[in-house]
Amino acid sequence: MPRPIAWTDNRLVLLDQTKLPAEETYLTLDDHHAVARAISVLAVRGAPAIGVAAAYGLALAALNSRADTDTGFLRDMEEAANELGATRPTAVNLFSALDGVMAAVTAAADLEEARHAAVRAAQRLFSETERADQILSRHGSTLIDEGDCILTICNTGALATGAFGTALGVIRSAWDQGKDITVLACETRPLLQGARLTMWELDRYGIPAAQIVDGAAAHFMQHGRIQKVIAGADRIAANGDTANKIGTYGLACLAERHRIPFYIAAPFSTVDMATAGADQIVIEERSQDEVKFCGGDLVSPRDAAARNPAFDVTPASLITAIITDAGILRPPYNDSLADAVEPEEQAG
Ligand code: MRU
Repeated sequence: MPRPIAWTDNRLVLLDQTKLPAEETYLTLDDHHAVARAISVLAVRGAPAIGVAAAYGLALAALNSRADTDTGFLRDMEEAANELGATRPTAVNLFSALDGVMAAVTAAADLEEARHAAVRAAQRLFSETERADQILSRHGSTLIDEGDCILTICNTGALATGAFGTALGVIRSAWDQGKDITVLACETRPLLQGARLTMWELDRYGIPAAQIVDGAAAHFMQHGRIQKVIAGADRIAANGDTANKIGTYGLACLAERHRIPFYIAAPFSTVDMATAGADQIVIEERSQDEVKFCGGDLVSPRDAAARNPAFDVTPASLITAIITDAGILRPPYNDSLADAVEPEEQAG
């Protein structure tokens, strides 16, 4: 598996996900403007990967700042954090990553130390992301039974975290343990992360899988072909309401109708205790052209209107369990999320 995110010679190297699966090309980024662009166009995407890329973007801003006073340096850093933070509003990992780097920089004794601290903070976040993926994937694998067919949406694998993956990590972990499972991957219109990215990853791991159009999920559930649904998350509110790729809410409604367990898998860092519930989650609305064009071809009348919310919110009441690196959490989520011990606290 190629490395989707790498920090090499003080530059950020990203596998360009807009080009997959046709081409495996890399972007080498040496300033935060380029990182912000890469996040905006989805060259790097998936909540944890966006967080890691943004942290490195801010580290680049620290290395590139020409300021020779604390005030000037902090002003450069705040401008860079604002630019990176304006890229995608829904994934909480973006904002916690930027806050983490800013806190490290602010605590540093001098400018030289602040530059090192920014890079170290980004590297620490990357390592924590890798560790969280491994732990939550192992936890989640205990929920998977021999012979399960698992439905998933979007891409939640190595590409989405830079590491092992979340929902797809659970599937990988069950497969690595020798469980005989299969996967149905929703293609995930409009940008086809399921078809282009999840199918590309599943093929590399040798996991038997079939791509379906998003509208086929109900059909397969109705015919008893799906035993579990597992999706990722961009932000989990304190009450368990969960924002994820557009279409996730529909799958949760269908799963309830067909009495199929519906799981969310995410690192605990995607839980936002400052957001009480669905009403407070900002949903990113992207360009109409992403809907009107498919593979570069216009598929609707040129002047047709289109709406393009990138995410929806699944109410906590439809979620069977939330799989995290702090354990498998069950309803009522107000209690289980508040009581969960953050993994760093466990470690330290
Ligand atoms: O628009 P994207 O591709 O960034 O959306 C990604 C998702 O919705 C993922 O399910 C989520 O970020 C979790 S990734 C581990």
